[in-house]
Amino acid sequence: MAPSTSSAITLNINGEKHALPVDHRTTLLDALREHLDLTGTKKGCDHGQCGACTVLLDGRRAVSCLQLAVAAEGREITTIEGVADGEQLHPVQQAFLDLDGYQCGYCTPGQICSAIAVIEEHAAGWPSAVTDDVRPEAGPPPLTAEEIRERMSGNLCRCGAYVSIVQAVAQAAEAEQKTKEAAA
Ligand code: FES
Ligand code: FES
Repeated sequence: MAPSTSSAITLNINGEKHALPVDHRTTLLDALREHLDLTGTKKGCDHGQCGACTVLLDGRRAVSCLQLAVAAEGREITTIEGVADGEQLHPVQQAFLDLDGYQCGYCTPGQICSAIAVIEEHAAGWPSAVTDDVRPEAGPPPLTAEEIRERMSGNLCRCGAYVSIVQAVAQAAEAEQKTKEAAA
């Protein structure tokens, strides 16, 4: 008997379980868009080069066009549809709105998902390629425009809204820092 080329899987997306049958070659991006109608995640290059399809897998950013849906089973998947807290926008969403961090908006869901993870990676002290002092005891470097540009460099914007995107990420990082300090 020929081996089966499809499987019934369950994906945990934005806190909800979705059971679906998929061909083993189906990417997570296609599963989201074509099978589950979660079209907020965008397809740009379909080759891992533009970042439009970025989602969060267990809180870390991943390009969903390079991830097989079957390999995402058991992971916690967050898409742009799941980043807000009910009616309350995520601070990164709010900052993109406040500062016009988009033009056509096609890259924006991926930019926002990336930015959410970037802010967490930075706060956790992860260095980037432009961080001067990478010693663990040095702590997080200042989140300068250069740091943000480097950390967001996997997300392309054909409209060239980069100046506003960098400002939005900086504003959201500051807002989140203030929230943490207030809660401490
Ligand atoms: S569509 Fe996935 S990186 Fe471009
Ligand atoms: S806002 Fe148009 S591609 Fe980024």
